[in-house]
Amino acid sequence: MELGHIVNSDQSQQELDKILEVTQEIKNLFQLKVGRRYLKGCLDGKFIVSLFKQPSTRTKLKFELAGKYLGAEIVVIPEIAYTSVVKGEDWYNTLRTFSEEGVDILTVRHPQNFIPQKLASLCDRYGFKPKIINGGDGNHFHPTQGIGDAYTLKEHFVEKIGRERLKIAIGADLRNARVSHSLVKCLAHYPVELTLVSWQDPEYLMPRKYLKEFIEKNGKPREVEKLPGGEKFDAIYWFRYQIEHGPKNEEKRIEIQKQYNRDFRVTPDFLNTFLKDDGIFLHPGPRTKEINIKIDSDPRVKDGEQIRNGRFSTMALYLLMLNPNFYVPRPSEL
Ligand code: CP
Repeated sequence: MELGHIVNSDQSQQELDKILEVTQEIKNLFQLKVGRRYLKGCLDGKFIVSLFKQPSTRTKLKFELAGKYLGAEIVVIPEIAYTSVVKGEDWYNTLRTFSEEGVDILTVRHPQNFIPQKLASLCDRYGFKPKIINGGDGNHFHPTQGIGDAYTLKEHFVEKIGRERLKIAIGADLRNARVSHSLVKCLAHYPVELTLVSWQDPEYLMPRKYLKEFIEKNGKPREVEKLPGGEKFDAIYWFRYQIEHGPKNEEKRIEIQKQYNRDFRVTPDFLNTFLKDDGIFLHPGPRTKEINIKIDSDPRVKDGEQIRNGRFSTMALYLLMLNPNFYVPRPSEL
């Protein structure tokens, strides 16, 4: 299977299954020194550029490391202002330049919705070489994070997923947390009983358009302002207040953030009350004051694993985009 652009969270069941299968194979190979050496040759001669117009720690790092571990050439442009876009060059001419330089994949993070999709359309229309990966567009999608998180859930619930309805709670700035939109698109492929936690106000509720496929498969999620007492969940997935999408007035924005961090604070007590003993807590980062760092001694907190898995799932995407005939050797063959 050869993948094209990854700009939306619209991967089919077959595509997602394949990506997660290859992620597992890469993770297994990565445990072995010979495996890591083998992986290093898989994208030899390929060229990946990352272009960011918003701050990032995890995504920038995973796009870069995933390419390095596969032996690709990597260039990271940490800020779009360092390109000739500031001199008035448009996307057509920028992409044309990347194409002439032989860029195979262009990863993009942008504060405006639909920029990666626009770039993918331009590449298709003008026959430019790069395949586009969306590293987060506005408050729309963050597909690579959603795919990595689907892997973490599948890895942890390997015995249950697809067989039982997993009880998952997601909170709390669901209108603007783009990862939450990508996540529910991925979760639509599995039996899930979903609880969405947020202030019951359209400013914070998940927009209906992201829930369409999920509802078709699983029925409507429950929407609540607080998790119901007496119930425990297989997975709790939490977000910070997306301050960059808050009101323009700074004082007001900070006041809302403080209220959010009070109402949706995650503490050891919160996890002990609402998370099953064999459950997991996930958070895509950045973590801010909604998280009490005392939770980090709880082995059910898996956001570290989430970061590492994101790198493996990105390696799987790169391979399926650029070298789909990748052969996975047995350790004895290495
Ligand atoms: N998950 C995520 O997108 O984190 P960064 O903003 O640090 O890249």
